Amino acid sequence: MRRRRRFWEEILQGPIAEMLFAGQDKAALAALGKRLGDEGDEPWTAGEVYLVGAGPGDPDLLTFRALRLMQQAEVVLYDRLVAPAIVDLVRRDAERIYVGKESDRHTLSQEEINALLIRLAGEGKRVLRLKGGDPFIFGRGGEEIDTLAARGIPFQVVPGITAAAGCSAYAGIPLTHRDYAQSCVFVTGHVRDGRFDLSWDALIQPRQTIAVYMGVGSLAAFCRELIRHGMAAATPAALIQQGTTPRQRVFTGDLTTLPPMIEKEEIKPPSMVIVGEVVKLHEKLAWYEPAAVAPDT
Ligand SMILES: C[S@@+](CC[C@H](N)C(=O)[O-])C[C@H]1O[C@@H](n2cnc3c(N)ncnc32)[C@H](O)[C@@H]1O
Repeated sequence: MRRRRRFWEEILQGPIAEMLFAGQDKAALAALGKRLGDEGDEPWTAGEVYLVGAGPGDPDLLTFRALRLMQQAEVVLYDRLVAPAIVDLVRRDAERIYVGKESDRHTLSQEEINALLIRLAGEGKRVLRLKGGDPFIFGRGGEEIDTLAARGIPFQVVPGITAAAGCSAYAGIPLTHRDYAQSCVFVTGHVRDGRFDLSWDALIQPRQTIAVYMGVGSLAAFCRELIRHGMAAATPAALIQQGTTPRQRVFTGDLTTLPPMIEKEEIKPPSMVIVGEVVKLHEKLAWYEPAAVAPDT
């Protein structure tokens, strides 16, 4: 008992405490784990969460850092948007937990995901939170690490190629171009209570590209609102389905022709909408030839 008391007094007054006061939580917890191990306690390591962007679908678009952390993690929480081929690259013996949001499969609420991350990291595990695209772009990644930060759980964030960048590159539609667009905005086409939460005047700026996430269901209403707020009906628009994957399909038209064209097609999620003059370049710059596979295989 006395030995244990001496041990903790030394920790509380020593360099490990200094590290904590200096905000070096991760280094302090690692050092504490080592000291406990040296004392003959169960070897102990602080858990950590890796919030990692998996990119838009093509596994080749993963970052090197993402792949490295995928080899280190002991447990993986992944979303619906993370392609199975990417989940397959996770360390073979890692536990895999599907938490994606899909109506016909059991999934967890955001609060349950946050709680699970805390519990697993609290058990000392290296936890990989794998999300489609980039975790900070319409990915609720900020909320997840907010909860971790509040509890002092160490985490790192690895950016991923966001859908707008991946889909536009694989569709041959540069988001900006000296001749056509000097700015680009990323917006959500998600409607709440039948209404968009968007600033239309900011969207209809000339020489600007609009990349719309989660915009398929509301495409017709979105195009109508753009026209109502002054955008030319002939403004080019594209829809890219399952971009960067072998099932990629690209549809192009303008604000009036694209919505009815899409209604006739069986559009599979995920899909991205791009509005602006840059869409014209698709015809000339399209380079990616997806493998000929059925859209739902
Ligand atoms: C909840 S948001 C997540 C975005 C993600 N964090 C990112 O940075 O790409 C999901 C939306 O991203 C878009 N998306 C993601 N992956 C896509 C893909 N491979 N092809 C087309 N759209 C995609 C779709 O608009 C989809 O509804």
